[in-house]
Amino acid sequence: RRPLRIALLGCGTVGSQVVRLLREQARDLEARVGAPLELAGVAVRRIDRRRDVEIDPALLTTDAMGLVTRDDVDIVVEVIGGIEPARTLILAAMERGKSIVTANKALLAEDGATIHGAARRHGVDLYFEASVGGAIPLLRPLRESLAGDHVHRVLGIVNGTTNYILDKMDSTGASFTDALEEAQALGYAEADPTADVEGFDAAAKAAILAGIAFHTRVTAADVHREGITEITAADVASAAAMGYVIKLLAICARSEDGRSVGVRVHPAMIPRSHPLAGVREAYNAVFVEAESAGRLMFYGAGAGGPQTASAVLGDIVAVARNRLAGTRGPDESTYADLPVHPIGET
Ligand code: NDP
Ligand code: HSE
Repeated sequence: RRPLRIALLGCGTVGSQVVRLLREQARDLEARVGAPLELAGVAVRRIDRRRDVEIDPALLTTDAMGLVTRDDVDIVVEVIGGIEPARTLILAAMERGKSIVTANKALLAEDGATIHGAARRHGVDLYFEASVGGAIPLLRPLRESLAGDHVHRVLGIVNGTTNYILDKMDSTGASFTDALEEAQALGYAEADPTADVEGFDAAAKAAILAGIAFHTRVTAADVHREGITEITAADVASAAAMGYVIKLLAICARSEDGRSVGVRVHPAMIPRSHPLAGVREAYNAVFVEAESAGRLMFYGAGAGGPQTASAVLGDIVAVARNRLAGTRGPDESTYADLPVHPIGET
């Protein structure tokens, strides 16, 4: 069978691990998909940068648009991040019938309507499991396994960097700055870590989760957002003395009457006996409360190159299988059109 060809946009923390897994697991992936997966090219900003993985120089390019529009490309994997040029590249790729895999929560939360609308219009796959919860299978269960249920609430820890910082401040007495530097060195933080510590990243993820859970359109601007920059060592110590830990929570809830949705991100004091208090380092945990399923908990590594690449690879396999079968995955179903208010009931 002819290989399915992948254009990789970005080869940083996540992208380099995608290259590694595609290479190391080539035979297994071919068996699972039913055709070989082949890298057609890798678009980066700086060709000469030292990378975590060896790449054939012939594959590297700074012409991302040229790469995504090539006829021999079937699947575009976007792990650049940010709004532009990611949005323009994804839209151009969709227009040419490519399947899309992206980890870009910032873009989906800011302009999901355009991206999802284009996927529908052009009849192409758009998979984005890695955009929320790193390695945790969360969005597909929410989109597919729970599609027959009625979700009331989604709540949890969705940012690895801030959880790492708060955990280190609590468990080792590390300073905010030292803990942030460690999280950056471990590849957990966004290119601009303000997105993590000011809660923008968690707010984007909350918007994506709420949109899927409640079948309505939610953008990052709809989310009440408060980060962790005001939290001092003294706050962490006094919470500890009272038997609490401080966590940055994302809370997405339907109102009592079910006619609106509230979405918010802010630090909260959690009793040490609560399961969320035991979420350490860059791990994430998300509770979903649904009418018939009851309470579900999703837990795992929320950030990091290899962990996130696992979710990206899962999406690559899914879109590759769909392409070979001549089918496509589910659309985002946003029929409900519920008003979103930033605070909301819980
Ligand atoms: P990095 O900053 O490590 O990598 C970004 C990559 O994009 C780099 O290779 C960079 O090139 C390339 N790039 C930047 N601008 C351009 C451009 N204009 N044209 C072509 N290439 C460009 O980011 P991450 O790998 O950490 O994150 C990537 C995405 O994954 C983001 O959307 C992020 O939010 C998401 N994500 C990240 C997770 C993590 O734990 N790191 C977890 C879940 C999602 P160069 O190398 O030359 O600088
Ligand atoms: N910067 C993000 C985090 C990466 O720390 O959670 C994973 O989305």
